[in-house]
Amino acid sequence: MEFDYLKLSDFDIIDRKILLRLDINSPMDLKTNRILDNSRILAAKPSLDALREARVVVMAHQSRPGKGDFTSLQPHADLLKSVCSQPVRFVEDVMGPSAKLAISETKRGEILVLDNVRFCSEETLEDKGEKLAKTNLVSRLAPLFDLYVNDAFASAHRSQASMVGFPQVLPSAAGPLLDKELDALSKLLGEPNRPSTYLLGGAKIDDKVPVIDNILATGKADQVLVGGNVGKVFLRAAGQKFNESDESWLTDATDPIQKAGSMLRKYGNRIIAPIDFGTLTDGKRCEVAARDIAKSTGNVLDIGSETSRMFAQTIGGSKTVVASGPMGVFEQTGFESGTRLILEAMASSEAFTVIGGGHLAGYASMLGFADRFSHVSTAGGAMMSMLAGEKLPAIAALEEASRRYRETRKAS
Ligand code: 3PG
Ligand code: MG
Repeated sequence: MEFDYLKLSDFDIIDRKILLRLDINSPMDLKTNRILDNSRILAAKPSLDALREARVVVMAHQSRPGKGDFTSLQPHADLLKSVCSQPVRFVEDVMGPSAKLAISETKRGEILVLDNVRFCSEETLEDKGEKLAKTNLVSRLAPLFDLYVNDAFASAHRSQASMVGFPQVLPSAAGPLLDKELDALSKLLGEPNRPSTYLLGGAKIDDKVPVIDNILATGKADQVLVGGNVGKVFLRAAGQKFNESDESWLTDATDPIQKAGSMLRKYGNRIIAPIDFGTLTDGKRCEVAARDIAKSTGNVLDIGSETSRMFAQTIGGSKTVVASGPMGVFEQTGFESGTRLILEAMASSEAFTVIGGGHLAGYASMLGFADRFSHVSTAGGAMMSMLAGEKLPAIAALEEASRRYRETRKAS
């Protein structure tokens, strides 16, 4: 698939002031505020190297309001400092006077990292680019730059100001990592080798549940295995009751549960949900069958061992396997096995295998076998949306910006 956007090679970048949107949000240790996996920081390095002769200002996010890992980007800037040869500075501000001053002082060959862009409440809204171009974030910062570069493929499904607002008002280019990801994933858009299995897990049910409909409707997957909170949503849609620890958030998840219910009616046993769980009960892991989960007192933190075996077997019999999102809270000791076993099954299979998402790809790299997959994407939700045939708002914004830029050049 060809994308009609401009790239870095279309612009003179020497000495230019460049706003570089990166996706470097990473799994964090909530107690120490330390980054647990530096894959996304390392993935950003080639793009920063390509911009070595420019004045680079990095805009990025970490998590979102209300989450435990919604923190400053200071640790991300420190890690960038340790992997880049250029000087890296951090400013504890996004669009206020300190940020503006630091941006104006950024010299050729330097990198400035702004603080978490989601500290600005405007960035948490999703809307059309034309509207988001009028936010304070875009209108205050855009005049300070010559070029906007979007290299945040993992956020390309987010129609937020930092993704779709700036391309409305600045010459804009796709970054090298975004371009490389689209190139690799485009190859997956043809007919998959069959049987084709998709695995969806993790906590982001609003992203993951709706995408499954397209994946099954277009025949991208013959079957979809669901774990993590995504699995719980499908079980709930099938009438399963959980205990208090999950009932509270499931009560608020009416929309994804309704969607899951209609998919179960349409696709039946092409969607496979967990049959048991690993729970944290009295300080240790217990295996509990799904039918007994409502009565159990522990927190459900992983798929159970029977489910892991069943999922691993399905993966072993597949010719294409695409996975995004962990099966449980693998960061917590005793609850890594569901996610580890599906990654091991994929890593040792002969199938065409793709994993994505900061957490799943990060865990594969912590386990030391990230190189045993056909492709490891920095993106989870964005990758799945793209494979499901959806148009990603950030890509559409870059294409629109390129048309606008060409027209202006033609007219002048
Ligand atoms: C991701 O990690 O999937 C992207 O950075 C998007 O993050 P978000 O789901 O918090 O918007
Ligand atoms: Mg993320």
